Amino acid sequence: MIILAIETSCDESAVSLVEAHGDLAGPQYKVLAHQVASQIKLHQEFGGVVPSLAKREHQLNLVPVLIKALTEAELLTARSSPLALPPEATGLLHREPELLQIITDQLLTIEIPPIDLIAVTNGPGLEPALWVGVNFGKALATLWQKPLLPVNHMEGHIAAALLRNEAVELPALALLVSGGHTELIHIKEAWHYEKIGQTKDDAVGEAFDKVGRLLGLPYPGGYHITELAKTASELPEPSGDFKFPRPMIHSTDFDFSFSGLKTAVLYSIKKLPGLTLELKAQIAYEFQEAALDVLVAKTIKAAEKYDVRSIVIGGGVAANPHLEPRLKAAAAKANLAATVINPHLNFTTDNATMIAAAAYLHHHNATPASDALFNADGNLSL
Ligand code: KG4
Ligand code: ZN
Repeated sequence: MIILAIETSCDESAVSLVEAHGDLAGPQYKVLAHQVASQIKLHQEFGGVVPSLAKREHQLNLVPVLIKALTEAELLTARSSPLALPPEATGLLHREPELLQIITDQLLTIEIPPIDLIAVTNGPGLEPALWVGVNFGKALATLWQKPLLPVNHMEGHIAAALLRNEAVELPALALLVSGGHTELIHIKEAWHYEKIGQTKDDAVGEAFDKVGRLLGLPYPGGYHITELAKTASELPEPSGDFKFPRPMIHSTDFDFSFSGLKTAVLYSIKKLPGLTLELKAQIAYEFQEAALDVLVAKTIKAAEKYDVRSIVIGGGVAANPHLEPRLKAAAAKANLAATVINPHLNFTTDNATMIAAAAYLHHHNATPASDALFNADGNLSL
């Protein structure tokens, strides 16, 4: 089946087309189109995502991104006469008139693409941003008379690893590490999720972003901290005089805490007369070490307790080049028989391909467009 997926939970407007087949234990995916319009440059001057700007950008971006995706997948065909609204659509369009406004001339002058399902992220994330995608998905499903399925963004981050087309053997553990979440999820059977731990304060990606700001790096800080830390790693003592805490590393639960680590970085900076590039690099290095140590230690402890066969990493922090090798080394050292699976780099930060991958796992639950009355939910949980 061909799935069209839409993602607007934060600052990326993304549309993908994915062909999926196979059973739920070993789904197989072929990416037909992967389009992401990033708003990072727009939000950079504010040091973080501004929800009202994100909403406006998604509204401007979605139709062009959809057209680009259909073009990439070679599924775009122009029509000479405009598409008529299907009679079945009038019920939903009457109840939710703003959907009608989304159906622009541009959408009416292309053929209905040969897709089987439309999937859209309905949470968690920034609610004004999520609503743009949800309404866009409802409008398209109504116009094209396709089934529609809401998808949890965090399940998308888990499903990103499935796009490698390697079997993820169950039971599995997912380490979800993004700008908004730090969670450990136990997956006993396909595809049910039990959250066994989460951050009590800041998410790990948020800590990278806040420390990035303290070091004067552009938003989002994760990538820039990793790059800066590389220069310190060539020094004889990469972390210099800096030693930061590993919060909750020895706690018996699977929860995390990263706000104290960020505060430790802040106090270290305040004590310094000034920040040279070398000092910044040493701080970036030691901060990254501390964050990775906690993530790896907690994940290994959980993998041992739940005796899992796979460890899946997901979320923007999975783009960190050290996380996967560290987890693999630690799993080997602990004699764990679990395979560590990291998504391909393109599928770590927010994208719609992962939303299509997750949708395939639940496509039986899709509803006809006329019944699709679900909401966007900023706090949606797995
Ligand atoms: O999943 P994502 O794109 O958005 C959310 O759903 O939050 O994750 C974005 C997060 C940001 O906090 C960013 O700093 C972090 O992923 N990130 C990284 C790296 N690249 C991106 N964190 C650590 N190391 C990286 N190399
Ligand atoms: Zn995300």
